[in-house]
Amino acid sequence: MADGYVSYPSVFVVDSGTKLPPLPPKPGQTRIQNRRNRQIQNILLVLVCLALIGLLVEGCFIYYLHWNNKTSEDKSDNPQTEARRGPNEENPITKKPKLPTILHPSKPLAHLTAGDKKPKKDGIMEWKENGDSILYGLIHRDGKLIVQKEGYYYVYSKLSYSAEGPPFIQMVKKNTTRYLGNSITLLTYYRHNSNSVHKGSMRSSFLGGVFHLYKEDAVFVHVNNGTLVRLHNSADNFFGMFML
Ligand SMILES: *[C@@H]1O[C@H](CO)[C@@H](O)[C@H](O)[C@H]1NC(C)=O
Ligand SMILES: *[C@@H]1O[C@H](CO)[C@@H](O)[C@H](O)[C@H]1NC(C)=O
Repeated sequence: MADGYVSYPSVFVVDSGTKLPPLPPKPGQTRIQNRRNRQIQNILLVLVCLALIGLLVEGCFIYYLHWNNKTSEDKSDNPQTEARRGPNEENPITKKPKLPTILHPSKPLAHLTAGDKKPKKDGIMEWKENGDSILYGLIHRDGKLIVQKEGYYYVYSKLSYSAEGPPFIQMVKKNTTRYLGNSITLLTYYRHNSNSVHKGSMRSSFLGGVFHLYKEDAVFVHVNNGTLVRLHNSADNFFGMFML
């Protein structure tokens, strides 16, 4: 019994010994490895293919963009084709970049410079509209700026005048339909001239302030003596206003 008992483990040992030869399963393992390798190769192949397809698609996009740019350049280079098309939807888009140079102000404003004429007997300064002047949302008539839109306005004026002779008085006035026949003084400049100044001396006045103005109010610059105003430079004499 005891022998048999001992023999059992030996049999087990032999069994385990005989199990060593069945190493051949290793070739099976290499087969599995080979299969895995093949799978990895396949996956790599698929990845490489995807990368190539990606490159191809990218190339197509670049070519498409380049071609698009070329055709749009051709379009702008060829105004005849644009003219032939007439008022097309594409035209405003091509003209848009030019807009900022002629951008309109958002609110009424005016800046006028003096012409070469001195004020007449009524003392109202005259202004000219030239390249330096701006007029938007206001009407300029006989030296007056006529308000078209009620609101708060900053009104300003500067004049150059002779420092010799009688006192110089400059006023910014408004004529409103609410007070018939009467003009209201908004701003006043007064300077007593003295005889001790050098001949040909000049001074300049400046007036500015904020006022609430109604539609049809007429704002203008008035001087007590027009012969005192010096008109040698249009940048020296100006009148303007803008809505706040
Ligand atoms: C205006 O000024 C001129 C020149 O200084 C002077 O001769 C003339 O008398 C003045 N006129 C008035 C109305 O003050
Ligand atoms: C101001 O308005 C009144 C009445 O409408 C008019 O008689 C007068 O000539 C105006 N004055 C000016 C300087 O516009």
